[in-house]
Amino acid sequence: MDESTSTMNAAVANSPAARQLDRDGFGKSAASDDVVLDVRDLRTHFTTRWGTVKAVDGVSYHVRRGETLGVVGESGSGKSVTALSLMRLVPSPPGQIVGGEVILNGRDLLKLSEREMTKVRGGDISMILQDPMSALNPVFTIRNQVGEAIKIHQGLKGRPLWDAIVDSLRKVRIPAPALRAKDYPHQLSGGMRQRVVGAIGISSKPSVIIADEPTTSLDVTIQAAYLRLLRQIQQEEGVGIIFITHDFGIVAKMCDRVAVMYAGRVVETADVRTIFNNPLHEYTKALITSVPKLEEKTGRLPQIEGQPPLLYNLPPGDAFAPRSPLPHTDKDLQIRPDLVEVEPGHFVQLAHSSVKEFHKYAHLVPYGDEYKGDGCPGS
Ligand SMILES: Nc1ncnc2c1ncn2[C@@H]1O[C@H](COP(=O)(O)OP(=O)(O)OP(=O)(O)O)[C@@H](O)[C@H]1O
Ligand SMILES: [Mg+2]
Repeated sequence: MDESTSTMNAAVANSPAARQLDRDGFGKSAASDDVVLDVRDLRTHFTTRWGTVKAVDGVSYHVRRGETLGVVGESGSGKSVTALSLMRLVPSPPGQIVGGEVILNGRDLLKLSEREMTKVRGGDISMILQDPMSALNPVFTIRNQVGEAIKIHQGLKGRPLWDAIVDSLRKVRIPAPALRAKDYPHQLSGGMRQRVVGAIGISSKPSVIIADEPTTSLDVTIQAAYLRLLRQIQQEEGVGIIFITHDFGIVAKMCDRVAVMYAGRVVETADVRTIFNNPLHEYTKALITSVPKLEEKTGRLPQIEGQPPLLYNLPPGDAFAPRSPLPHTDKDLQIRPDLVEVEPGHFVQLAHSSVKEFHKYAHLVPYGDEYKGDGCPGS
């Protein structure tokens, strides 16, 4: 390891997120090794007047039962479009899922009919929104709204339906659930409304819950309540959670594993400890060192140097190369880097222009030889 690498790693280890990691503990190990959701080489494109936007350009990740996978990356990196693609909710036109597989409990969701998909959506895979006001309908009672989800997915009616409603409110720790069920959303506090949204999310006993951070920043107490709720749901129900966020600090607290996205691709994925202690991709390092300090509520990740790329005009090769502190050549922009398993469970998109230790792993990729003896760092 050369001097600048160790300086970078020291900076990463001392970052606010890493300190938080030490203090709060992490890596609540997944309940089992069962992979419940396996996303393979997913591609979703938008047709625009400027050209084809490759919003999701070959994304692969998986989620195990009872595990939280954090998906992080700057605005526009394709986190939400990936999530919408899993639910088959990409607006079409202009969007289209053009390739890949989304295997949920052994079934490829991309091959299901729209009718079958309606059952899966909000059933085996569900989404919990952070903002309770936009998720609940103000003119219906809590009973109606929780009941609706249960009716669709469990086909209950009458007394058993009522019992199931009360039971799911109790599960998310709503006091006096039988009374609260008769209330309208405005009669509950923000934290309670959040719990109702959680109750709807788990009422169909999903295998996977997607929690996507809204772009507008929320009240801090609401957000804290949301995070506590997700943790609790996970501990009790053992579902897999896909947790989408800009905030590496929250990743350290909430997630078991992390997938870092850049320009529609996963550039690095590993368990949370490895991501913080031994990040290999320059983009991951930049994200970790730019974690906002706790006392500054910015709601957005501070800018890392350079602009996110225009997704309709991406180079076929390493899209991060122009922003990377490492030198790059035309060749780097042309060769599409593979996502390579460099250590068990640690995958990195192995580009010469974005991974300082490229030479250590060059033998793992077919184009590794092309970079021999060109005088770049590490060679
Ligand atoms: N309806 C659409 N038409 C054209 N392009 C779209 C559409 N929806 C999303 N995109 C593009 O897809 C890319 C990925 O967007 P996405 O919403 O997934 O980003 P994100 O990572 O979730 O960002 P944020 O952190 O801001 O939520 C963006 O470049 C966006 O402009
Ligand atoms: Mg988003």
